This record gives sequence, structure tokens and C-alpha cells, in this order.
Amino acid sequence: MRVQRVGAKLRRYFHYYPGTVAVIGVLDPEKESRANFMPAVWNAGLSFAPPLFGVAVSPKRHSYRLLAERRPFSVSFFSFEHAELVAALGGTSGREIDKVKAFGLEVGWGEALEVPLLPGAFAAYELEFWNQVPTGDHDLFVGRVRAVWEDEAAFDEEGVPTPDRVPALLYYGRFLYGHPAPETRRIKKP
Ligand SMILES: Cc1cc2nc3c(=O)[nH]c(=O)nc-3n(C[C@H](O)[C@H](O)[C@H](O)COP(=O)(O)O)c2cc1C
Repeated sequence: MRVQRVGAKLRRYFHYYPGTVAVIGVLDPEKESRANFMPAVWNAGLSFAPPLFGVAVSPKRHSYRLLAERRPFSVSFFSFEHAELVAALGGTSGREIDKVKAFGLEVGWGEALEVPLLPGAFAAYELEFWNQVPTGDHDLFVGRVRAVWEDEAAFDEEGVPTPDRVPALLYYGRFLYGHPAPETRRIKKP
């Protein structure tokens, strides 16, 4: 083991990876498709009641500008087979292109809110803007879950997306993608 003291910036900051990827979808009125999507590995469930979910987005992203207008947004969760699509959405900016058109995607729209959704996800949330919290060089955009989409086949009887049902996409950092190993063990409280 080695140790290093840390100043303003860490060159490598992947110790807590892999992380589940949430693909953020938000209305972009200036696009022909009216939608923009970007993956965010910095995402977290934040509250059960009300159900709150957050994504940390850098002001450098085109999505930041759209989210900062307090628009509703979606987050979608994909399986490993969609890694290339996620990498493409994360490797391009809505500032330069209409990703939906460029990648030939079909956009669906939310049930509860005017949020764009991509087909093929095993789960998605429709989120109403709740709060924008500055956190260093990213802002945490917190949304309140107003609708949940789920592929029933991906979840067990407790509502857990087990790896035998769905190989959820994991991001390890530095362009490396994977999925959870098939072994799981349910360990109940004593
Ligand atoms: C797997 C993956 C995860 C990412 N996670 C984040 C993140 O959590 N926050 C962020 O600001 N950018 C993240 N990015 C970078 C943005 O997705 C990327 O800059 C994208 O081009 C932004 O698109 P936009 O400019 O259309 O909003 C990630 C990229 C990838 C490939």
C-alpha cells in the first residue's frame, strides 16, 4: 500500500469505482429531436420519502445548461450490451450535435413529465427538478421521482436487479466498462 497527501486535485480518482451508469435525458428545445442525453456515473439515490435521486454534472456539459433551467429530467439504467451507446453519448456533446439524430436513436417521452427516454433501458425514472447543489467542480442536480419504468424480467421478487436477470452496466473509469459477477448472496440481518 502506498499513501499520498492530496492537494487541490487528484490525478487518479477511481478508487470507489465501478459505478452504475445513469443516462440523463433532458428536453433540448433547440434540437430537431428535442432531446439530449449524457451518461453520469456520479449518481446516487438520496431519499426514500420523498424519493430523490441525484446526478453530479459539470458546468462544462451541455446538459448542465439544460438542467440548470430547472427542467424535469430522466435517468435510465442500461445493461452491459448497451455499453457502446453509453460511450457514444458520453463521447459527444449536445453543444455540437443532435445525438439522437447522429446515432439514429428513437426517443420516447415520459408518462408523468415531459422528459425524453431511450428505449432499451431496463429501468428509468422521470424526475421533477428538486434542487441544484454546488459540490466543487460539479453541481448535484436532485430530482424527485415522479414515475418509474421497469422491465419486470430484470427484477427479483424483492425488486432487486439481480445479475442473473440483468447484467447492469458498470463503469470502471478510463473508458472501461463491465457488469456484475453472477454470484450473489442474500445476507439477512441476524
Ligand atoms: C460512463 C461515463 C460516465 C460519465 N459520468 C459523468 C458524470 O457523472 N458527470 C459529468 O459531469 N460527466 C460525466 N461524464 C461525461 C459526460 O457524459 C460527457 O462529457 C458528455 O459528452 C456530456 O454530454 P453533453 O455535453 O451533451 O451534456 C461521463 C462520461 C461517461 C462516458
